[in-house]
Amino acid sequence: MQVRNTLQPLPPPDRVAEPDKSNPVKYGEYLVNAGHCNDCHTPTDEHNQPIPDMYLSGGEPLTGPWTGKGPITVSSLNLTPDPSGLAYMNEALFIKTLRVVP
Ligand code: HEC
Repeated sequence: MQVRNTLQPLPPPDRVAEPDKSNPVKYGEYLVNAGHCNDCHTPTDEHNQPIPDMYLSGGEPLTGPWTGKGPITVSSLNLTPDPSGLAYMNEALFIKTLRVVP
């Protein structure tokens, strides 16, 4: 039996401008967008829309087989500079945290 794939690939996105690496804030914004950090680290409302005032503040529940033993729910963490977020991190710890592979 032949299976037909009815899903078509999306057209390639428009070319994205090179980030300004000399401006750490702009470069960070580019990396956050490229990494879709917002998708998990910004809580959503009852319509699954990001809550604008809560940008990157965490708390979004994510359910999946994270431990390999069946589904569990974890919450994304607060990535803002707030004391409940990443205020305790310096650049070296942040890089180390993102590079850790279990
Ligand atoms: C698919 C969902 C998802 C995406 C996308 C995502 N994260 Fe996360 N992140 C999580 C979850 C869930 C946790 C909490 C994990 C835990 O509790 O062990 C977390 C934890 C973290 C932590 C640890 C914070 C701490 O206090 O230890 C950092 C830093 C982080 N994420 C940064 C990022 C950045 C930067 C991006 C984008 C490049 C990103 N995350 C994208 C789900 C995500």
